[in-house]
Parts: sequence; C-alpha cells; structure tokens
Amino acid sequence: MEFKNKTILLTGASTGIGKEIAKKLAMISCRLILIARRTNLIEEYLSAINNKRADIEVIQCDVSKKESVIESMIKIKTRLADRQDKIKNNIDIAILNAGISYRTDITELNSKHAEEIFGVNVMGIIYWVEQLLPDMLNRKDGMIVGVSSLADSRGHAKSEFYCASKSAATKILEGLRVELHPYNIKVVTVKPGFVETPMTAKNKFKMPLLMEPEKAADLILSGIEKEKPVIAFPLPIVFASWLGGILPSRVYEFFAKRVKVR
Ligand SMILES: NC(=O)c1ccc[n+]([C@@H]2O[C@H](COP(=O)([O-])OP(=O)(O)OC[C@H]3O[C@@H](n4cnc5c(N)ncnc54)[C@H](OP(=O)(O)O)[C@@H]3O)[C@@H](O)[C@H]2O)c1
Repeated sequence: MEFKNKTILLTGASTGIGKEIAKKLAMISCRLILIARRTNLIEEYLSAINNKRADIEVIQCDVSKKESVIESMIKIKTRLADRQDKIKNNIDIAILNAGISYRTDITELNSKHAEEIFGVNVMGIIYWVEQLLPDMLNRKDGMIVGVSSLADSRGHAKSEFYCASKSAATKILEGLRVELHPYNIKVVTVKPGFVETPMTAKNKFKMPLLMEPEKAADLILSGIEKEKPVIAFPLPIVFASWLGGILPSRVYEFFAKRVKVR
C-alpha cells in the first residue's frame, strides 16, 4: 500500500522508531496523525523539518487508557471532518508502535511494571483496533500495523513481562490477520531486533546488531508498502528468535540458565 494521499495514524511518534517513521512520512504528500503523550517532542522535531509535504495533526493520548483513546478518536474525526482537500477523511493505515519496557532484577519484581507494560504494549493496540475497526469493516479497506518484537518467542530473564506482552501482541495480530482477510483489511506485524532508541539506551549489555532507528524506519516503511504480513529484522536475530522459539523448553533452559543476564 503506498503512502501518497493516504491518511496514516502513528502511535509512539515522539521518540525512537516512531519519530523516524514520522519524519520520513512528513516528506510525503499524505495526511499524518501523530500520537504520543509528550506532544511537545513531536512539535519540536516537526518544526525543524523544512519542506514538509504531509498535512499533520498532533494528538495527545495515553494509549494505555481506553477513555484517552476514545477521546482521541473523537478529536481526529472532528478535525478531519473540516478538511476539504483530496485526501479522504478515513484512516487508511494505522501504525500502532507505542511501547515500553522495563528490565528488572527479580529482587525488584513489581506488578505495577507488568500493569504498565501490558497496558501500553497490549491494551494500547487493542483499544486502537477497537476504535479503527468499525470504519475499516464498513469500507472493507485499511491496514493495521502493530509493532511487536523478536523478543516474542521466549520469556527472557529480567524481561519476562516485556516478552509476554510482545508474544501477546504477535498472537493478537496473527489472529486479526486471518480474521480480517475476508474484509480486505491487511494486518502487519513488525518484529525488530535491537534498535538504538531511548528504550534500549538504558540496557547495560552489548546488544548484537544494534540498528540505527532511521534504518529500522526504512525497513518498516518499505515492508508496509510491499504489504508484507510480517516485517522482521535483522536476519541473524530473526533466525536466532525462530530457533529459540522451536527449541524444546529443556534445551532452551539448559542454555539460558548458563548465560549471565545483566
Ligand atoms: N528499540 C528496540 O530495540 C525495539 C526492539 C523491538 C521492538 N521495539 C518496539 O518498537 C516500538 C517503539 O519503541 P522504541 O524503541 O522506539 O522506544 P521509545 O523511543 O521509548 O518510544 C516509545 C514510544 O511509545 C510512546 N509511549 C509509551 N507509553 C505510551 C503511552 N502510555 N501512551 C502513548 N504513547 C506511549 C512514547 O511516547 P510518550 O512517552 O511521549 O507517550 C514513545 O513515542 C515499541 O513498541 C517497542 O517495544 C523496540
């Protein structure tokens, strides 16, 4: 699906991968709806881009709160209703990218972290899909892109809640892809390896094949254009994640218990 003349909604647009996707889409003639809590960060980088071609709306939303997502959808519909240009007033592509992670030692286990992670990484997708689907089903058109992770294949030590939330996201998107196929609604799952963003800046271990966020944004956008059902990168980590996923638990844990996790 090409981006020109489309209306594209993007969550998690204030930093990291979302910011780079937004900066690239801003140069295309389309309508962009950029969403995050820290909208000041979005306004800041937008003001530094010359020759923007997109028509851009910035909306403040906490994706982990259903009321906030509902309010945002009402705001979007109201703002788009006034437009008289050639871009249609429905959302064609929704890139649900907002996410959080905590790496915590077992001595600091806190259910609040789990609530927050599941709130953003899982419910943040579900609340938006709930708002987007009625119109997409009605039109029999649209694309939902959910950002999961290659960490979805196993429960890694110190990242149990994050891995579980991404595993849930992957399964939800997979089910939706099958169920929405007869309605001509495409569902895309994005599974990055390590990308250099504020999320990974706090990691104390060496991240293999750490990728620039600009490169990750390019791979995601070209995968969306090609309508790939799953966009996963980089290849060696895709392979490691796949292998980790198919290993019997005993074999996986034999090796995992021997790795010093920082
Ligand atoms: N970086 C990696 O290595 C990596 C690897 C695999 C998958 N991913 C996934 O890629 C996505 C983007 O991550 P990133 O690395 O770019 O991280 P990031 O720089 O920390 O960006 C996270 C984005 O999510 C938004 N967000 C967080 N909580 C939110 C909430 N409650 N409501 C609305 N927006 C919220 C943040 O905006 P505000 O705080 O301003 O609201 C920010 O724009 C995430 O889903 C992440 O899990 C990242």
